[in-house]
Amino acid sequence: MPQQLALSRAAKLIGVSRAALQKRIKDGGLHSFDGTISTEELLRIYPDLKLEDSGLFEQTRKIKEEAFRRRIMDRTLPAKEVLAERLFEQGMELNDLKLHLQRYHTLVVGLQARIQALAGTAAPAAQSALEQLDQWLERELRHVLGEEQKPDSLAVMDAMLKVMSAHVTLQPSGRDFFVEGNDSLLEAALKAGLALNYGCSSGNCGLCKARVISGQVMQTKHYDYVLSDPEKQQGYTLMCCHTAVSDVVLEALEARSASDIPKQQLTARVKAVTQLSNDMMLLHLQTPRSHRLRFLAGQSVTLGHTAAGSAEFPIASCPCNDRDLQFHVERGLGGAFGQRVWNGMKAGESVTVYGPWGDYLLDEDAQGGLIFIAFDRGFAPIKSLLEHTMARESNEEMGLIWGASSPDGHYMNNLCRAWSDALETFRYLPVSMANRDSADAAVAGVVERLLAEFPRVRQADLYLAGPEAFIAPAVAQLVAAGFQKSRLTAMAV
Ligand code: FES
Repeated sequence: MPQQLALSRAAKLIGVSRAALQKRIKDGGLHSFDGTISTEELLRIYPDLKLEDSGLFEQTRKIKEEAFRRRIMDRTLPAKEVLAERLFEQGMELNDLKLHLQRYHTLVVGLQARIQALAGTAAPAAQSALEQLDQWLERELRHVLGEEQKPDSLAVMDAMLKVMSAHVTLQPSGRDFFVEGNDSLLEAALKAGLALNYGCSSGNCGLCKARVISGQVMQTKHYDYVLSDPEKQQGYTLMCCHTAVSDVVLEALEARSASDIPKQQLTARVKAVTQLSNDMMLLHLQTPRSHRLRFLAGQSVTLGHTAAGSAEFPIASCPCNDRDLQFHVERGLGGAFGQRVWNGMKAGESVTVYGPWGDYLLDEDAQGGLIFIAFDRGFAPIKSLLEHTMARESNEEMGLIWGASSPDGHYMNNLCRAWSDALETFRYLPVSMANRDSADAAVAGVVERLLAEFPRVRQADLYLAGPEAFIAPAVAQLVAAGFQKSRLTAMAV
């Protein structure tokens, strides 16, 4: 009998994004029932799917590696203790199923005996009906018990996936994610773009407390924080020190606004400094394992160096990047700190990170699509928003239009093209603003292409970022073109 699978599990099983399945459902090409899809229906759409060749798994992995470079999918097996617990859970489920089947079999055999007994004593008319019923039951039982059933390959794959990864649903938001490899609940949630509450990531502060509503979790790291007895009785756990053994439902709150995120100060190390173009340098920092930066996509921080002062920069990476923080430092900007980046900042140096600041944030409840408009270095915070949206596997249609003043100003062109190739729901349009007489004229060129080439732009929410010289005229021109100011979110960088 076909098995019903939750949408995210079905997507994971066949190696496509949840957004891609949602789109097929919306277009009428795939039937769903109550948020689930049957394995039969999935095989109808993907008839050649086999675990052993796993073409779709491989294809998706490649796309993700190319598109997100940073995030090589964690192919590590979970620790043997976790695997053993998951197998035990599967065994329990199987045993439960066997017991149920035995009970049904006994019931049907008993029913048949009763029908036969009644047929012997019933009036002739009823006797014939009972005999017919008995014969039908006999035939059906022979058919069902003797039939060679083809195994449901997707159900088998799903059982295997349940051993390799666990599905977690959050209450009250209803959002979900998978725990893979040796990730803790917290690490897996952050990779999936969820802004859960946490502090030290190492079992000391208690800020990542969450209540397990159903399912099994298992401790994977030592922790010093002491949960009170009532908390233990109510099922509270520390997400940074536990992983999921079975599918789990957790009660945990997510940050929804900048005011939900506390100001933090930490010392990070320079991982790399890489020149991206004539005028743009990528500064890549890594935070300590025990002290990560909690922030929302689109926010900024102040970076400081003992020998070079401090300056504020938008974060050009997403919170899903774990301990990695990236910044785009333009030549001549950021004062003495910027000079240090350009003139010899080395891997291993210490940089103080203070923040986060700002409320250039996505409205995650918005519908109607997202269009990002970057001018020159404004790509940095937009990259953070885009990566966050992709990590959440949002099914929103997205577009990026990037106006650049210099010939090599689209300094991450390849990355944007890879996103565009990988995601059906994403469109990228680079626009040159070189040789324009004024900022107004440069912006007018971008707005003109936006209106001409993004047909759904008027339903979408627009996010703009770039130097003030471009942002002010861009907002003015869009409002003049009939866009509501409330649908424009702008940031001068
Ligand atoms: S984040 Fe501090 S205990 Fe988990």
